[in-house]
Amino acid sequence: MTQTERDSIHSSVSGKWTPQSWRTRPALQMPAFPDAALLEKTLAELHELPPLVTSWEVLSLKQQLAEAQEGKRFVLQGGDCAENFADCESSIISNRLKVLLQMSLVLVYGLKLPVVRVGRFAGQYAKPRSSATETRDGVTLPSYRGDVVNGPEFSADARVPDPMRMIAAHSRSAMTMNFVRALIDGGFADLRHPEYWNLRWVDYSARASEYQQMVSSIGAAVRFMEALSGSALHNLNRIDFYTSHEALLLPYEAAVTRQVPRQPGWFNLGTHYPWIGMRTAAIDGAHVEYLRGVRNPIALKVGPSIKPDELLRLMDVLNPEDEPGRLAFIHRMGAAHIAETLPPLLDAVRRDGRRVLWLCDAMHGNTESTQNGFKTRRFSNILGELEQAFDLHAAAGTRLGGVHLELTGEDVTECTGGARDLTDVDLERAYRSTVDPRLNYEQSLEIAMAIVRKRNQS
Ligand code: PEP
Ligand code: CO
Repeated sequence: MTQTERDSIHSSVSGKWTPQSWRTRPALQMPAFPDAALLEKTLAELHELPPLVTSWEVLSLKQQLAEAQEGKRFVLQGGDCAENFADCESSIISNRLKVLLQMSLVLVYGLKLPVVRVGRFAGQYAKPRSSATETRDGVTLPSYRGDVVNGPEFSADARVPDPMRMIAAHSRSAMTMNFVRALIDGGFADLRHPEYWNLRWVDYSARASEYQQMVSSIGAAVRFMEALSGSALHNLNRIDFYTSHEALLLPYEAAVTRQVPRQPGWFNLGTHYPWIGMRTAAIDGAHVEYLRGVRNPIALKVGPSIKPDELLRLMDVLNPEDEPGRLAFIHRMGAAHIAETLPPLLDAVRRDGRRVLWLCDAMHGNTESTQNGFKTRRFSNILGELEQAFDLHAAAGTRLGGVHLELTGEDVTECTGGARDLTDVDLERAYRSTVDPRLNYEQSLEIAMAIVRKRNQS
């Protein structure tokens, strides 16, 4: 494609942006709310609620992502496939925070790089579905689209899209964030006290001694530095933690999009880091239109069917100024396909020369169903995709800047394999996800250690 062709596509999709201009584009994955008046009233209410994040946090994340683009930081993005209202509860939130903190400790120590910590939580309530309806025993109902839209139970009542759920999702996001902020401000993430983050696995895991060794050498280093300088090291108890979710339900996202004093432009203040899912990544679609206009850093999921040309055109639209830290591509190809589908994209972007941050989602291309009907992912495929990603980037002269994972701090059995070698039979024991299978805390730690091993080799 020539530059002129690219320019003309760009100008046709770059008319005047407003938080509502997406409404003029095809909007996939939108629920049909039966009560239009209630929808309008709810969106107006949402629009008046205080923001969940601030513009300066959003801009400082963008700065950190710009550094990750240059190889000066590594990004760890992780959390549930979908949060649900019932899981907005203290131990689930703190366990998820613990596992992310432990993983980031492993990464900081092993990679000798600061880590950008991004939770896939405090707003991850909307899910794309392959079909708008679901049929069971001859009864057809709207599909479950996440707790922000409707309920998972298979009943007509539960499945009606209910606008009031947007207020509930916003409140739960605020509560989640409030708790995480309070934990971190109170010293929960203090590097002098990694024992605060211990989960039960530490007592019996095959990885325990490796992790404990790391923790004690960090402790020794901190004590050494403090002895040397004669005072307590600053900043060991302070970390940044950011939030992200898929910007899928556009009426909600538009309602939390705001202008702020002394800053030009618009910010999505419902999360720091919104992303566009693979199913809604069409260049002329509503989701791309909405996200091109907000000043947040944004990410786009890149699946196996995307072509190099399309990716460059998406860069034109989503980051026309080639702004550092603005745009990430999260590739999610699957262990069986990445070697063939990723290199042409890496090549095109490298030759183009503009900035992008590459992240690897090693989950969504590796989902499969077992004979007894569970949706699962094999640990070896997740790891295999990640390891290949490092090699493919090295061969292409590009850089893998981080990872995107679905994980939980709970002791679930949803993905098979790992140090404990979970099998299809184990899935019956503790399968709790209503959507995609997550790494449990032990498998998550193993992945963090494997990333260190792989990256230090390549
Ligand atoms: C997800 O992240 O849960 C998801 C649905 O991913 P993708 O858009 O990459 O399929
Ligand atoms: Co998912």
